Amino acid sequence: MAKTANQAENAQLKDIISHAKEYGFVYPSSEIYDGLQAVYDYGAYGVELKNNLKRLWWETMTRLHGNIVGIDAAIFMHPTTWKASGHVDSFNDPMIDNKDSKKRYRADVLVEEHAAKLENEGKEDEAKALTAALARLLEAEDLAGVRDLIVNTGIACPISGTTNWTDVRQFNLMFSTQVGSVAEDASTIYLRPETAQGIFVNFLNVQKTARMKVPFGIAQIGKAFRNEIVARQFIFRMREFEQMEMQFFVRPGSELEWYKQWAETRMNWHLALGTPAEKLRKHDHEKLAHYANAAMDIEYEFPFGFKEVEGIHSRTDFDLKSHQEFSKKKQQYFDPEINKNYIPYVIETSIGADRLFLLTLCNAFTEEKTEEKSRTYLKFHPAIAPVKAAILPITKKDGLPEKAQEIVEMLKYDFNIIYEDAASIGKRYTRQDLIGTPFCIAVDHQTLEDNTVTIRHRDTTEQERVSISELHGKIAEATSFRRIFEKI
Ligand code: GAP
Repeated sequence: MAKTANQAENAQLKDIISHAKEYGFVYPSSEIYDGLQAVYDYGAYGVELKNNLKRLWWETMTRLHGNIVGIDAAIFMHPTTWKASGHVDSFNDPMIDNKDSKKRYRADVLVEEHAAKLENEGKEDEAKALTAALARLLEAEDLAGVRDLIVNTGIACPISGTTNWTDVRQFNLMFSTQVGSVAEDASTIYLRPETAQGIFVNFLNVQKTARMKVPFGIAQIGKAFRNEIVARQFIFRMREFEQMEMQFFVRPGSELEWYKQWAETRMNWHLALGTPAEKLRKHDHEKLAHYANAAMDIEYEFPFGFKEVEGIHSRTDFDLKSHQEFSKKKQQYFDPEINKNYIPYVIETSIGADRLFLLTLCNAFTEEKTEEKSRTYLKFHPAIAPVKAAILPITKKDGLPEKAQEIVEMLKYDFNIIYEDAASIGKRYTRQDLIGTPFCIAVDHQTLEDNTVTIRHRDTTEQERVSISELHGKIAEATSFRRIFEKI
């Protein structure tokens, strides 16, 4: 039977997930205990890839922009931070339980998935009407109405198959814990649900100590935690994840100009990294959060459809103003150019490192099938590939391993290099393809005579003979961030 588009997409995601596990990129957390839902660990090549992506983002922000500096704030923050930011009162998802299976679902996701199913069945009008009804009910915060919509549409629990639903209730997504060594002293604190607040509460510290003038930005990479109930699609939605966020502080009134500029700059960054334009799209938010006067997502076409990778938000002065109110400490900036005090407006760019990782993996995963052979490889941009080159002596004899080790010594201080001498050269090429190594360098008997080696290129499998003295320059040229930076 022919596969539907949906089944083919799921099959592709499954292939990517098993590839990620088998070749050392991502494992389920604490797998020997059957894993922990929506929590993942990065393996030997995964951590290299993720670090490269984070470094690329960091250097784009802080090196390419003289007016952006970094910060590394703590995960724990004073609990009032989350009151001021609005997370204590409104960082909620509408949840519904099925009384028979005892499974809990996000009510809005149940409806959205049902709408997607209708669309796949060609019932586009019904699907549209359903999502429009959901949007209206959520806008009106009518949770009873959302339950009625689920029941009346006949949406059943995927486990029990029944429509025996509880009421829809709001659940806060923040994880909380206690500080203090004795229970009586203990006070509830939260694991931060976004890194941005660490930037806001340090706005004046950074502005003063780094002597920044508006417009300027503060960038941060760090862990964030959300008690996501709908935790599926691999590392797309995790409970513990990493964000790369940048808050750009601007003069009030200039924010929409800056918003446009940052939306364009960030899209160019994705394109420069090699993501095809047709797999990316902008999605303007129709319903704006109470603190925003413009917002959009950059979406990527994952095997499960176009989904958000990065958010760009014009957050007005909401956060700083609110921290000023709650802390009773002025959060104003004196602008010497116009001789005025004001609370700056903020443009935020926020991308999940793990989501970018998944985008990169999906984009790189390549299966080539011809009549004679099939080949799977990861077509990473060389600048972010976990391993830059594999040094492979063609035999373990005749001094070839020693010669190969000399090359490793020459390159290892600047590049992540692998040395491998087991198995046939063909098998070793295949293995490097599977982890996305752009260059395989074969050391053979001719190398001993004339100091030349063969470079085999991952994407074309073409080989060229070059002198050992050229290797460093060639790898440096191909893997430099500069090649990406110049395109942004
Ligand atoms: N400070 C703004 C903020 O946190 P968000 O849209 O909730 O906005 C920003 O998150 C980005 O963080 C998303 O575009 C996504 O890349 C990533 N992200 C959010 N929740 C995530 C999760 N549960 N797992 C992985 N990444 C997540």
